[in-house]
Amino acid sequence: MLDFLGNLERTHLCGDLRAASAGQQVVLMGWVNRRRDHGNLIFLDLRDRSGIAQIVLDKELTPEGHLKGEQVRPEYVVAAVGKVRLRDKDAINPKMPTGEIEIEATELRVLNDTRLAPFSPSEEAIQNEEVRLKYRFIDLRRPEMQRNFWLRHEITLAIRESLSRQGFLEIETPILTKSTPEGARDFLVPSRVHAGEFYALPQSPQIFKQILMISGFDRYFQIARCFRDEDLRADRQLEFTQVDLEMSFPRQETVFGVVEQFLAAGFAAAGVTLATPFPRITYDDSMRQFGSDKPDLRLPGLTDVRSAFTDAALETLRIDPALPVVALRIPKVGELSRKEREENHPLFDQKKGAKFIDDFKRLAKSFPEAALKVRELAGAEEADFVIVVAGDPAHPVKASDTKFEGRLSEREINVLSAAGNFRTELAKKYADRHGAFGVTEQAVRDADPKSGKSVDGTSAFNPIWIVDFPMFEYDLASAKWMPAHHPFTAPKEADMANLLTDPASVRANCYDLAMNGLELGSGSIRIHRKDVQQQIFKSLGISDEEARARFGFFLDALEYGTPPHGGIALGLDRIVMLLAGGASLREVIAFPKSAKAIDLMAEAPTSVTEQQLKELHIRVALKS
Ligand code: AMO
Repeated sequence: MLDFLGNLERTHLCGDLRAASAGQQVVLMGWVNRRRDHGNLIFLDLRDRSGIAQIVLDKELTPEGHLKGEQVRPEYVVAAVGKVRLRDKDAINPKMPTGEIEIEATELRVLNDTRLAPFSPSEEAIQNEEVRLKYRFIDLRRPEMQRNFWLRHEITLAIRESLSRQGFLEIETPILTKSTPEGARDFLVPSRVHAGEFYALPQSPQIFKQILMISGFDRYFQIARCFRDEDLRADRQLEFTQVDLEMSFPRQETVFGVVEQFLAAGFAAAGVTLATPFPRITYDDSMRQFGSDKPDLRLPGLTDVRSAFTDAALETLRIDPALPVVALRIPKVGELSRKEREENHPLFDQKKGAKFIDDFKRLAKSFPEAALKVRELAGAEEADFVIVVAGDPAHPVKASDTKFEGRLSEREINVLSAAGNFRTELAKKYADRHGAFGVTEQAVRDADPKSGKSVDGTSAFNPIWIVDFPMFEYDLASAKWMPAHHPFTAPKEADMANLLTDPASVRANCYDLAMNGLELGSGSIRIHRKDVQQQIFKSLGISDEEARARFGFFLDALEYGTPPHGGIALGLDRIVMLLAGGASLREVIAFPKSAKAIDLMAEAPTSVTEQQLKELHIRVALKS
């Protein structure tokens, strides 16, 4: 028989009680985390979002409460009335924040029972993620998940406050709208009123935030939901949240200053100090030094070791002398056996014309000087694992491999990024041996579960701006220069003259923010003049009609006094994931989609009734 709450009022949260609370009369409410029956004494670990407190039901003190205590099971919802007392010395639990006290109960009310769940929130790690997602309401009760959402709340609040202090106005933009140009597939929503017509869910508020600048709001931001129909990965969800902002009259540096301030505030809310300003690197340098446009600064970069090899050595080793020859170094891995090395090989992307040497003993036999020089150039210590990555001359050269003056060629990029990816994959694999990736997670695991504040992890988080991206990429299939970014991205003013004559040389006025190998954000200074916008469309081969059909309203708006403007969007889920030490966005989104794009709890997507389809003027042609 369940009890009613009656006029009982909760006085405290379980996790807040300390030795200083001894003697206080309290009313606690929550879930039974664990129950231990010692005959005349029953101990309940009572859990709420703040933590756990121990309730003692003494048969002599509360025979009725003790009787109920015999019946409750884990995850029953109860209210306990009683007095806080210090535990006996030998019963103190130093591992629990409330381990010095317990509640001597005078009353227990059983507010609800529970069905047997497939797992318990008190289990440390639940292996099967599908079960976790299906029973998300229980999964979210786990202290680790509770902490992640505290953290998310604190970070979001700090970012909002910082942006508000910096003069940004939070304005909502439509969810039912027109296709936006972020390059992913749209989610479409059929219109009932307008047969055969569709709204699109926004891939980002891009066009609207630019229009808000035309409307004179000067500084806009939004914690914005975005929707993209793309394949899911650990750092990608169908719907996700951006810290999205736009400002009028900014230089690139103005945007950086704003972001550095709000990000430092967000990280500070998680107990982490971010040093500002963040370092900057050009796209080309980032590729050369890290083999990536989202470099992970926690690991040593790539080293150009071309000079370690004679031309004869390159020929014998079948290395393309025209392409980069780089070394990557994974610290403190120790010597690897041949079998261990072979197990690493699937982590290397062989397909794009890059090859590698990881057997230095063999290299030393034929080219002892080169082997020595490579390790020396790479600054390798005794226990560091070093690999040379280079171009494979046997790889067929395509038209798109053409080298354009002053710019990395596709083949160079392929070799560098093969090295860069190998570097991060190996570092992840060997993280436990040198701790490069271990720091963050440990720092976060030591966090205070209530506030979600983590211990200071200053050096564990490494932001960097990537600037001077090329404006265009050559698309072989259409034999056209295509925008590397959305088509409202402005070219660098200095390169404007080359737009039509030498697209390869044009740099975009855009920038990315990377942290620990993850792209956190991306933005640009926009095109604010219609003539330049038309020129860009022209150089992209977008006809006037197409431009009008897709962005007509925006092109119109551009003609009505558009100020120079620019902005950026950061992935909020990714920021929280980093700070929570999680391996997937699913750890920091309350109700995420599974890897197969399904909401396993709500069971979405589903089919709908014939009637609904009819109202929407839709017939399902094919059911696979
Ligand atoms: P972009 O498309 O680069 O830029 O997105 C900005 C940031 O949003 C995050 N992000 C995602 N996070 C989770 N799941 C996804 N599927 C996903 N896609 C993107 C990333 C990314 O860096 N309108 C432009 C911004 C601008 O120019 O102002 C835009 O949306 O962290």
